[in-house]
Amino acid sequence: MKKLKIAIQKSGRLNEDSLNILKDCGISIDNGKDQLKAAARNFPLEVFYLRNGDIPQYLRDGVVDIAIIGENVLVEKGENITIAEKLGFSKCKVSLAIPKGETYNSVKDFEGKRIATSYPETVKAYLKEKGVNADLHIINGSVEIAPNIGLADAICDIVSSGSTLFKNNLKEVEVMLKSEAVLAVSPKIDDERQQLLQKLRFRIQSVLTARE
Ligand code: PRP
Ligand code: MG
Repeated sequence: MKKLKIAIQKSGRLNEDSLNILKDCGISIDNGKDQLKAAARNFPLEVFYLRNGDIPQYLRDGVVDIAIIGENVLVEKGENITIAEKLGFSKCKVSLAIPKGETYNSVKDFEGKRIATSYPETVKAYLKEKGVNADLHIINGSVEIAPNIGLADAICDIVSSGSTLFKNNLKEVEVMLKSEAVLAVSPKIDDERQQLLQKLRFRIQSVLTARE
């Protein structure tokens, strides 16, 4: 019998909640922590632990059938990938922020400014729609430090509790996107696995209803 292949985040904010929702669906996973692949015991499911940013490509290529991933990652690199369910956890925003002491009037203030970000496509699309031209500096982590070291005038990154902004003397001035964890589906999923997905979705929906 075919198995449904699911990608979940290897480590990071979504990992634990992703495993929890599967557990609440009655799916137990043989979990050697260092393994990158694990089998479920009571559902035809294979779990792949992957890096967040790699998951959209795996979905597009059909290497995995489904994934639990942040909407923010799909907006950034998830072309052709559909969302089957919103999962209600890992809520965050993708926002633009500037040094606390600066005044802010509107998004037009970003004209000609240097913005450090790990979300270049999201920022580009947002600013384009607003008719603003800015200069993007792509960095992979610790983005909030950029204005303090003179690398950029502003940043665009994930805001969850807001504590990273606070600690770096920044203030959120534009919310570009509100995000949560979702169940995403490969455009290449076959019919048999599509049926397994329906079963899984049914269980997930019951879990989400029970959580309300
Ligand atoms: C993430 C994100 C923000 C921060 C937001 O960084 O890039 O910096 O969390 O969370 P907060 O609003 O609750 O502070 P992470 O800690 O994952 O590190 P990284 O940016 O270096 O990958
Ligand atoms: Mg960060």
